[in-house]
Formats: sequence, C-alpha cells, structure tokens
Amino acid sequence: MELKVQDFSVLFPQNNRFPPADAAFGPDKARLAKRFHNSLPFYAPTKLVALSDLAREYGIGGIFVKDESTRFGLKAFKGLGGSYAMFRILCEKLGLDPEEADFMTFQDPAVRAVCRRFRFYTATDGNHGKGVSWAAGLFGCDSFVFMPAGSSEARRRAIEEAGTAKAVITEGNYDEAVETARLEAEKNGGILIQDTAWEGYRQIPEWIIDGYLTLAAEAAGQLGGRVPTHLFLQAGVGAMAGGLLDYFRRLFPAQPPRTVLAEPREANCHYVSAQAADGEAHTVGGNPVTIMAGLNCGTPCLVTWPIIRGHSFAFCACDDIITREGMRTFAHPHGSDPAVTAGESGAVTLGLLLRILRDAALREAFGFTQDSNVLLINTEGDTDPDVYREIVSGQI
Ligand SMILES: Cc1ncc(COP(=O)(O)O)c(C=O)c1O
Repeated sequence: MELKVQDFSVLFPQNNRFPPADAAFGPDKARLAKRFHNSLPFYAPTKLVALSDLAREYGIGGIFVKDESTRFGLKAFKGLGGSYAMFRILCEKLGLDPEEADFMTFQDPAVRAVCRRFRFYTATDGNHGKGVSWAAGLFGCDSFVFMPAGSSEARRRAIEEAGTAKAVITEGNYDEAVETARLEAEKNGGILIQDTAWEGYRQIPEWIIDGYLTLAAEAAGQLGGRVPTHLFLQAGVGAMAGGLLDYFRRLFPAQPPRTVLAEPREANCHYVSAQAADGEAHTVGGNPVTIMAGLNCGTPCLVTWPIIRGHSFAFCACDDIITREGMRTFAHPHGSDPAVTAGESGAVTLGLLLRILRDAALREAFGFTQDSNVLLINTEGDTDPDVYREIVSGQI
C-alpha cells in the first residue's frame, strides 16, 4: 500500500517474503566492535537523549534520540565504521587476532612502521570520508577521498583537517565517485575502504557496519530495559539502517521494533526497490539534489538490502522540508527537553515522526499508541555550520 501525503510518500511493503540475508549483525559482532572502540584513548559513549515533553505533547510514551553529533569530535557516527574496518584490515594484513589486539597494539613503533605502508581510498558525501581520514591518522596510514559534484568546500576541508586525507571534489555523482575511488586504489596498490557493498566487495563494508553496532549496543544499554516499539532509521546506501535494524531485531526477537526507513525523495533507492517488489536492489540515477547530503545515494548496499527488504515496516520518501522541521525542533526543544544539534541527514526521522503523529490515520497505520517508545538516531551534528545556522534560524 502506498500513501502520498504532503511532503512525503509512504510505502508499506506487501510482500517481504524474500530469501533471508546472508549477513547478520547481532550482539556478538557489536561486542567485538565495542571492545575495539573502548580501547581508543578518547572513546566515550554518546548520549541517549529523552525528549519526554515532546513525547507527552504528541501522546506517545517516549522519544529517545541517540545523539551521534558528538562522536569522536567528528560530528557524525561514521568514524565508528571507518576506524573499526581499518582495524580489522590491518589486523588481517599484520596477522593479528582481532579478539586480542586493540588500539594499544598499534602504538608499538614496529607495528606503526608497517602501517605506514598502507594507503586507503574511499568515496564520500562527507562523513564517511572524514571518519576514514581520522582513522588513517590514528593508525598512521595515508588516505585519499573522492567526493561527488556539488559537495561543499566546507565538508571537503573538514575531511582533510580530520586526519591524513587528501580530498578532491569530482565531477560525477556519488556512484561515480565510488568508481573513481575503486580505480584509484587499484592503480596505486591501495585499499578501498567503502561504506557500501556490491558483488565481489563485501568483507570491508561488513566490518564498517559492525563498527556502527557500537552505537546500537550503547543505545540498548542506555534504554535501561525499555524495548523500543518503533525504530526510525535514515538511509543513504542503507548500511547503517540495515545493521541497526538487524541488531535490534536480534536483541529483541520476541518484540522486534517496527522499523521505518526514511530517505530523501530524490534519492529514494530503497523506496523504489521496495516498490518494484521483485526482491532486487534498484538504482536511482542522475544527480539527485537534496540538502540531506549523507543520504544522497543512488544504490542500496548489497549486504544490507536483503535485511531491509525482509524486515522493514514502512519506507518513506521525504522532501527536504521534513528534515528542516526536524532540525528546528531539535534546536528549539519543547518544555524542559534538552536541545540537540542535528544536521540535515540527522534530523529527517524526527521531522517524519512528528508528521506521522499529527495525522490520526497515519498514527494508526504505523501502530502508535500512548505506550509507544520510539528510538531515533541523530546521525550528525552541524557538519556544515553555515547551512545549519541558516536552517535553524528559519532563514532557508
Ligand atoms: C550523517 C549521516 N547519516 C546517515 C547516513 C546514511 O548511512 P548509510 O549510507 O549507511 O545509509 C550517512 C551516510 O553517509 C550520514 O553521513
């Protein structure tokens, strides 16, 4: 069933009886990733923020926001994936056991001397590249980052400032930037560390997704026994959403949360794939324009698409106005709720949730009651500070 409402469209998939996914992202993988992140000297869990007054005003039990805007000082969750995958790659190259090695192992001068030989390549619309640049700095490796046309100079500079990367803005779209990174890695004997998977390229993206599970495991602990009834996740290639969806459904097998996937209307590759209902991942081509830069991706990740197609409750394609509302609501909180700095890709799920809750028919269709507890992930802070200021002050 498909509903077109003002500013967004909703698709409730009729058939999700497709073959199960090969990959699993359960608590065992989260434990290993968290063990590594714990060993970083500046690791600290990010906050789980309760927007209790907002939840009360909208007549539900709770709205909980895992706030990744402060992660590692990078303003986004992405460094979790890049650092953990780099750790796993280097463990493999150096013959180290990832169950025993940790960040301290890489402080040994002899180990660092070997690490200096590795060069990492990636494509990004911002945050992943920043995470890779930062992680390469931690391990003492070189890194090269390719960005799609239209990427902002502020984001490019932030990538270089975060660590070792040389970052360039290319002329193609996101998928073309990925291809450039792949070819450059091949030509220069480097390692492609990409946050999406395709046929023949799965292991490294799986490690990246494992790394994201640290935030899921932290959130699960911080929920203090509450089981979320709804999980709202934003998707670019869907690696983060698929990983977290799988984690929470395995953590709460008796009551898996209803997962709602939010994408920009112009880059809604999961939505159109679900709409096709043939089980395949479909690509949205061209140069989509949206302020949700981190979600501006044309092709679902091959590892997580089978998880998403099998277990999502609804797919939503959202206009930019929805994330603007989310950003403003986070910035100007209700009652005694704390303010949260949420960027363009971080806030869309809050904007979407409020629109659903304001409409009685949608509220019912999504199964909201006064006891519902919703978990949202604010995946980024003000990664482009000038644009952020203009949006939350209502200028654009
Ligand atoms: C801030 C932010 N949120 C969400 C996402 C979406 O993650 P994924 O591409 O795994 O769907 C990204 C991806 O870059 C991002 O930067």
